[in-house]
Amino acid sequence: MCSLFFSGGPCSFHENNLMRFLKIIAIILLVAFVVIQFMPTERNQTDLVPKTDFLLVNNTPENIGNLLQVSCYDCHSNNTNYPWYKKLQPIAWFLEDHIKNGKTDLNFSEWDEYSNRRKNSKLKSIISQIEDDEMPLFSYTLVHRDAVLTEPEKELVIEYMNRIKDSLQ
Ligand code: HEC
Repeated sequence: MCSLFFSGGPCSFHENNLMRFLKIIAIILLVAFVVIQFMPTERNQTDLVPKTDFLLVNNTPENIGNLLQVSCYDCHSNNTNYPWYKKLQPIAWFLEDHIKNGKTDLNFSEWDEYSNRRKNSKLKSIISQIEDDEMPLFSYTLVHRDAVLTEPEKELVIEYMNRIKDSLQ
């Protein structure tokens, strides 16, 4: 086998060659990183809060509303908050993909367009996703630490979602 890192193998690399090789790789990566910054992504933003918005319709208390906006709204509403690092590629691509899939499943901006039956099933799903630590997505909380819900915050949101669910019947 040919080893790059251990000399004395059947085809040992000279150290200078290795350095040159790594430098070329680094330059290629750097150029690729710069180039992808110019590739377009769709921004998920609207100026107005729609009348059908979950927080508006339910008159959600501010503390719970803030939790949902920070932890869920980026992927589950028509308004994503874009600090600089979310505009960086390839993060923006990943996020775009998550927004597309997340909104298809659950869109807090269009909450009041759902039937009561659909709301009920979405609320159940929200509760179980939070209980099982499935949401917010792990890959997202790696970058976005403030989206992590603490245990008391999870309880607060779950209790609130249960209350909304009970008020539907
Ligand atoms: C980084 C983007 C992202 C964030 C942030 C996020 N989600 Fe999701 N969510 C998704 C995606 C993508 C899906 C689609 C299924 C999957 O890939 O797991 C999904 C699926 C769901 C579903 C399943 C819907 C269904 O049809 O049953 C629920 C419920 C949900 N998310 C709730 C939440 C809640 C509540 C939060 C905040 C605590 C949250 N999500 C935060 C991306 C996100």
